[in-house]
Amino acid sequence: MRQIKRNSLKKILNKKNIVCLTAYTSPIAKLADKFADVILVGDSLGPVLYGFESTRNVDLNMMIKHARAVVNNTKNAFIVVDMPYGSYEHSKDKALQNAKEILASTGAMAVKLEGGEKIQNTIKFLTKNKIKVMGHLGMLPQSLVGKPRVFGKTKKQQEQLFNDIISLQNSGVFAVVIECTYRSVVEQLIKISKIPLIGIGASPNCAGQIVVTEDILGMTKFSARFSKKYFDFFKEAEKSLKKYSDDIKNKKFPTKNQCY
Ligand code: KIV
Repeated sequence: MRQIKRNSLKKILNKKNIVCLTAYTSPIAKLADKFADVILVGDSLGPVLYGFESTRNVDLNMMIKHARAVVNNTKNAFIVVDMPYGSYEHSKDKALQNAKEILASTGAMAVKLEGGEKIQNTIKFLTKNKIKVMGHLGMLPQSLVGKPRVFGKTKKQQEQLFNDIISLQNSGVFAVVIECTYRSVVEQLIKISKIPLIGIGASPNCAGQIVVTEDILGMTKFSARFSKKYFDFFKEAEKSLKKYSDDIKNKKFPTKNQCY
């Protein structure tokens, strides 16, 4: 098999503005690969692709299948795969076994885990065993109870974030996603952190930004202050499908050009 020379992690981490996008499928992966330094196969695929209420319903097999599609349809980006809920919390040995399975069976380069201080021993164990790990702090979808809320309002949450970032740094993660967290708090974290922070609803001063690609292309009904719609896929697709349906009814499709 031909070996692909992808963007090196070292070079990516030295960039000023790291571009990250999610992808779960081959068409989006091919598009994202033209622009992204890092592609995350996020467990947001549960709500986005499958209509699940929570990312907690996503399992290891789903992550592996989608990650394989993304790896096989990209040649530039550094690919990170989310470890799904239930795949790393129970024991560090199980976490290592699952991380190895994700990477070996997909060809992806790294995994992402949600949480800080609480899972530092597991992350340390993974990095000691040569697994590249990305952290995830702030609003954590896998731990969400009730409605999503901006993180970092209370003193307790702020102190937790500071402990978490230090724990992750000491555990050997190469970068940390910080999600839906007050900008002033994120900027304090940026000051003390030696590793790049990748923001989503965080701060323009993060080392990089990530979004769910389907959200910014208008392929989902998701709306949040932090997301920006760059394209209205639903509106455009609806127009096209209406045209298709009208063409059939008016005997305008297929024409002789579409027939053999
Ligand atoms: O699952 C996901 O897509 C994520 C990003 C939103 C950071 O974790």
